[in-house]
Amino acid sequence: MLDVSRIRQDFPILNRRVYGKRLVYFDNAATSQRPVQVIEAIRRFYSEYNANVHRGFHWLSQEASRLYEDAHEEVAKFIGAEWDEVAFLRNTTEALNLVATTLAGSLVGRGDRVLVTLMDHHSNMLPWLTLSRRLGFRVDFVDITEEGYLDYADLESKLAKDVKVVAVPHASNVVGTINDVRRVAKLAHEYGALVVIDGAQSVPHIPVDVKELDADFLAFSGHKMLGPMGIGVLYYRKEAVRDLEPGMSGGGTIKTVPCSEDYRLCSPRWGDLPWKFEAGTPNVAGALGLVEAVRYLSRIGMTNVMEHERSLVRRMMDGLMGLGGIRILGPLKPEDRTGLVSFVVKGYHHDAVAAGLDVMGVAVRSGLHCAHPLHQRLGIEGSVRASFYIYNTLEEVDYFLECLGSILGRQT
Ligand SMILES: Cc1ncc(COP(=O)(O)O)c(C=O)c1O
Repeated sequence: MLDVSRIRQDFPILNRRVYGKRLVYFDNAATSQRPVQVIEAIRRFYSEYNANVHRGFHWLSQEASRLYEDAHEEVAKFIGAEWDEVAFLRNTTEALNLVATTLAGSLVGRGDRVLVTLMDHHSNMLPWLTLSRRLGFRVDFVDITEEGYLDYADLESKLAKDVKVVAVPHASNVVGTINDVRRVAKLAHEYGALVVIDGAQSVPHIPVDVKELDADFLAFSGHKMLGPMGIGVLYYRKEAVRDLEPGMSGGGTIKTVPCSEDYRLCSPRWGDLPWKFEAGTPNVAGALGLVEAVRYLSRIGMTNVMEHERSLVRRMMDGLMGLGGIRILGPLKPEDRTGLVSFVVKGYHHDAVAAGLDVMGVAVRSGLHCAHPLHQRLGIEGSVRASFYIYNTLEEVDYFLECLGSILGRQT
């Protein structure tokens, strides 16, 4: 198991006090904290290696380029991919938008359909909805079950030859469900559809191997897994994108731009993968910070991360059930969930609960969590979400339950 007290020493922010109380940080699904190793990697880049990459012959630029390319290799390995199967973008949202803008118009057009799920975060849903209006394709929602699982029967019933893409979250940021995305990929591939997996809440918390999942695309964010903000990753299956124009272009994305003599016709020849997907100056410091994050998590082991969070989830769910009058969202089996628990307290507004916890030093998220259709499906106007990571402890969960109990005037 994890040596949590040792791990906590690497996170200076956890020593902060808020309202005179020790900080209990349970908002990790929004963004995690960063260890000193990541902070130091960013400092080192700017003080020792800073130069633009792939744009200079000079020594510093060559060095920065090599470090940046090595970063692709290490991050790719973390999810079982090759170095040229991952592009660095700003975050999950940008990566998923890039998938949509790259596929829409070339692979998905008028008369086609895209399936998204009611469990999806807006970032894997709104790019498709927006483009569907412009390009004349249809977006259909796959339902969830009453227990908060993906409804695989509904997915099967909606799959047909005109479905070109199935977008699905690997793990839900609200109900916490870990979806069987391998099964989704198998079903989608039977109909010739591509699968776009939102890995924002899975890659930081459970072992992920893109080849085992048979993913066509998978996106995740560095800042939710100990890395810096402003760096995200898109995995793509090379055969799926080799011949496509990138949905975002500009400096760094091309080999040449040959033009006719009168410049009326210019047709860019796109760069090799992954560069054709990385438009403009990249976040090199962020990439190097992400490498440190990936090393940190690899040293711990992702199975250990998952087990640790599972023990926190179990304690939290037992405690919430003990308090009574609380509706826990999503599966009741901790082994089917990632490291978060969202809930609704009967008779209390979610923001009031979060505010009450805040003054006791406990940071949680309340609201709709960028998943409005899901909350509509659940028939609720918002929820409180406690989300865990490697530095959280069972004692913190107990303290949380004590605080919540006192807000509600109930004993834990
Ligand atoms: C499931 C899921 N997808 C996508 C995102 C968007 O991540 P980012 O804001 O890093 O782009 C989040 C963030 O909350 C998320 O939880």
